[in-house]
Amino acid sequence: MQWGLKNRLSRIFNPETGRTVMLAVDHGYFLGPTRKLEDPRATITPLLPYADALMLTRGILRNCVDPEGAIPTVLRVSGGASIIGPSLAAEGLTTSFEEAIRLNVSAVTMSIFVGTEHERETLLNLSKLVDKGEKYGIPVLAVTAVGKELEKRDARFLSLCCRIAAELGSHYVKTYYCDDFEKVVESCPVPIVIAGGPQLDTFKDTLQLAHDAISKGARGVDMGRNIWQSDHPVAALRAVRGVVQENMKVNEAFELFESLSKG
Ligand code: 5RP
Repeated sequence: MQWGLKNRLSRIFNPETGRTVMLAVDHGYFLGPTRKLEDPRATITPLLPYADALMLTRGILRNCVDPEGAIPTVLRVSGGASIIGPSLAAEGLTTSFEEAIRLNVSAVTMSIFVGTEHERETLLNLSKLVDKGEKYGIPVLAVTAVGKELEKRDARFLSLCCRIAAELGSHYVKTYYCDDFEKVVESCPVPIVIAGGPQLDTFKDTLQLAHDAISKGARGVDMGRNIWQSDHPVAALRAVRGVVQENMKVNEAFELFESLSKG
């Protein structure tokens, strides 16, 4: 792997642990002002010290994150569909590598929609993105999106999606945790990080999800709603960080969450 790619990846994945805690705040690109992300700057700012990288669009980066900050960014470069439109899968590429370089990003990311009518388009866009990423030394993160069909999140489907993303050259892949998750990891030759999905019933469930994913080979998380929709987002992120970066057990991380929530 070329130096620039490696260098950027090492800003996202802590070289000491090989893991990452990415904070996903890109939801507005198809959901608009999502609950508790209505004012992105207010949501994001207190969380910055505890995230290894931020995943977001250029609009939120430019307007809601100070350029003086040192946080590595993963720029979402796909979009073009909305939650009320005909198909969430109808995404195209929304910006260029010139823009990614201007914004000094550490990686770019886009969603692929395997098994949908837009499969071909999104997979070919991923290949084009990887070609350019290799040219400029910018890693590409593929997101195995499921749109509104959350029930699609099983090991067979996610293994197919992750493997295709890796075959097309993605440098790492974001997917969902599922039963038999180790099979998804084993059949994907590049690192996998997991999304959190919609807010779970309890925060302990979030910690369990992160713990199970890491113990079955995930190299980190790229979580959004289960962090910033929490009543205690900073405590939530610090506890997830404890699991991912400090090998905390679920109960230990939950105790940390509770003590920070009271503080
Ligand atoms: C949407 C995304 C989101 O960033 C992703 O789903 C992570 O956030 P959450 O943990 O809220 O699911 O990539 O396609």
